[in-house]
Amino acid sequence: MLARLISLFIFLCTFVVAESLEVNSPNGVLKVTFTLDNGEPRYAVTRFDREVVRTSRMGFVLRDANPLSGGFQILESELRNVDDTWNTILGERKVVRDNFTELTVQLQEKSGDKRRMNIIFRAFNDGIGFRYEIPKQRKLKKMNIMDELTEFALAGDHESWWVGAYLRNRYEYLYSHTPVSEIDVVHTPYTMQTEDGICLSIHEAALTDYSSMTLRRQGKHKLKADLVPWSDGILVKTSAPMKTPWRTILITDTPAELITSDLMLNLNEPNQIEDTSWIKPTKYVGIWWEMHLGVSTWGSGDIHGATTENTRRYIDFAAEHGFDGVLVEGWNIGWDGNWYENGDEFNFTTTYPDFDMPALSKYAAEKGVSIIGHHETGGGVINYERQMQDAFRFYKKHGVNSIKTGYVKHGREIKRIDENGNVQYEWHHGQYMVEHYRRVVEEAAKYKLMINAHEPIKDTGIRRTWPNMVSREGARGQEFNAWGENGGNPPEHTLILPFTRLLGSPMDFTPGIFDLLFEEERPDNRINTTLAKQLALYVIIYSPIQMAADLPENYEANLPPFQFIKDVPADWQETVVLNADIANYLTIARKSRSNEDWYLGSITDHAGRALSIDLSFLDVDRKYLAQIYRDGDDADWKTNPYQITIEERLVDSMDVLRLYLAAGGGQAIRFTPASDADIKRLR
Ligand code: NOJ
Repeated sequence: MLARLISLFIFLCTFVVAESLEVNSPNGVLKVTFTLDNGEPRYAVTRFDREVVRTSRMGFVLRDANPLSGGFQILESELRNVDDTWNTILGERKVVRDNFTELTVQLQEKSGDKRRMNIIFRAFNDGIGFRYEIPKQRKLKKMNIMDELTEFALAGDHESWWVGAYLRNRYEYLYSHTPVSEIDVVHTPYTMQTEDGICLSIHEAALTDYSSMTLRRQGKHKLKADLVPWSDGILVKTSAPMKTPWRTILITDTPAELITSDLMLNLNEPNQIEDTSWIKPTKYVGIWWEMHLGVSTWGSGDIHGATTENTRRYIDFAAEHGFDGVLVEGWNIGWDGNWYENGDEFNFTTTYPDFDMPALSKYAAEKGVSIIGHHETGGGVINYERQMQDAFRFYKKHGVNSIKTGYVKHGREIKRIDENGNVQYEWHHGQYMVEHYRRVVEEAAKYKLMINAHEPIKDTGIRRTWPNMVSREGARGQEFNAWGENGGNPPEHTLILPFTRLLGSPMDFTPGIFDLLFEEERPDNRINTTLAKQLALYVIIYSPIQMAADLPENYEANLPPFQFIKDVPADWQETVVLNADIANYLTIARKSRSNEDWYLGSITDHAGRALSIDLSFLDVDRKYLAQIYRDGDDADWKTNPYQITIEERLVDSMDVLRLYLAAGGGQAIRFTPASDADIKRLR
């Protein structure tokens, strides 16, 4: 189904039975060694022959059966090389290269039930992945996994950036920065940097029908897979044949290469959706920030946000400024009272009386805009699944193409009815919810609906297989700036996200707030940024559904910088990381999919910076008009956040640009092929 630009090269060979096997990355830099130590499977990873992961355990503990972790012999092993390309439907780049060497090890217990387990390793140039496969067999059918023994015995006590797992607010925390030896249990992607500057990030790919993996420290810097349990203590309920998600470790020379790695997407199955013509990048505005500021409400009443009149206002604004969609939150019955507690009362086909869906969808269509749907479930997934088909049909009938879903509930609070009819409470990240989130995506695909999930399961590259899973939240986003304790996210937050959470996937961070201080609405909060940095985030944070989050009046009052938000695409042909230092600064250039334009975003933490950028990513022999949106000379996130300078100049691929970023600031540039008139005007 997908175009293959380089022919697939597969080399197969069968090995002599051995106790130790190796697989090298295509460039020979990374090596994974698999050993059977007295029948127990182990793996280790080196880079240029230096230890990255020391010999680490593998296997499972099962309920009502012996552990699947020892007494093995190697039945057979197989190596193959793959060098292939595939095209993304939406993505940071159009063409992705998939180049790895794979080792499959088939194991069988020497005695007893002689159960079988395969382990598959893939060594890429920028990291490794491995997964377990339990083949179909007579003596192993139903499995209740009580522990996954996978370890990551790190070779050093690296510095690391993390958010803790099993906490109240899911993934929505500021990142901590400590040595590995100071963590307890953390979410993935878990990113580290060694003393030598090598970057590591542990995560998982293709999380399907399984619990998500967190990492628990054991010993000074040894980590162990800690799967999020069901309420009854079982970690995974499954049966053979089955495959686990891939356990992945990015291993790169530079932080920039973490960002450009496609390892995770490559470890997912190809696209399952035949007709993808309806999966499109979307730029949107919405009835959203006003609720977070407290100007209007989701629930009914005098200041209800989702009224017909207010929605028309947003539709008019979207149409005038070229946005594709208008998100409307608070349009349906269920928000009154404590919606957070009463998710089961949400009705996904009944509007509030002051919201006229048929009239609005007609109005939007006339203006070339669509309404973006919103399904806040309050974590009431039973209620949601009961209504899902009708809800999708309702939206589809009204021209909706994408839905933002929401699961606002804390910690382990998702209600489930068990086999005996008893109520149980589950985590957002356990198998019950992994399966729910996927059901929604697959069901939505039948209705040609794109999904943008808030309070989601973390992304593990599923967007390759289900490209209608366009974006998600899954980290502390812009909204915390409106009401978060401590006055909002600090400037370095957006400098940590790209090296951690965003390695997983696109994020619906909702950038682009222009009224940075909102002193009237929320005097104790603000956005800790300059205005130019808000623009740069459109390039830094990839999301094919990308919001201009502020109120229309704040854009209307500030049209010159708003032009950048209007111009910038939400999906890309190519992505180049020009410089990167975790938690400090980052500059990314991305090429539009629809024309020859390039866009650049550069952001810094609380420190001002002067960065030199080589423009060799631009086409040679062509002049570009650079439309530069930079921090003003006296800008500073704390004292002078609004000062922005917008200027134009001619550049080409031989130029070196100096980017001056104010403290907490940023810079955004659009490079567009220069016309003769531009050349005349600016020479
Ligand atoms: C939390 C989401 O992140 C936010 O975007 C949404 O507005 C509220 N829930 C209400 O659904």
